[in-house]
Amino acid sequence: MLELRDIHYHPATLTKAVLAGVSLKASNGTPTVISGASGSGKTSLIEIISGLSSPKKGSIYVHGKNLNTRQRRSISGVVFSVP
Ligand SMILES: Nc1ncnc2c1ncn2[C@@H]1O[C@H](COP(=O)(O)OP(=O)(O)OP(=O)(O)O)[C@@H](O)[C@H]1O
Ligand SMILES: [Mg+2]
Repeated sequence: MLELRDIHYHPATLTKAVLAGVSLKASNGTPTVISGASGSGKTSLIEIISGLSSPKKGSIYVHGKNLNTRQRRSISGVVFSVP
């Protein structure tokens, strides 16, 4: 089980936050789809979940344990695709 609680992401170079209060739960064995318009923050969210970047605020739990960025990076695998 993966749980995101109130994730905020705001790169210093932007005037507006990319993610403002994202919460979700994803269960093991069930695919989870993240959809949205171009620029809405899908890739930013995956980067945060997988520990490639850090949220400004919020918590991420894996199997009930609150993991920091380094811990998430060590257990995550991400495949980026090029169209
Ligand atoms: N590290 C960063 N520094 C500055 N701006 C960023 C950073 N990361 C993301 N952004 C900006 O945040 C917004 C969301 O980008 P993101 O790539 O997460 O969107 P996306 O939903 O994956 O878009 P697409 O569907 O085009 O792949 C964009 O405006 C992007 O330019
Ligand atoms: Mg993207």
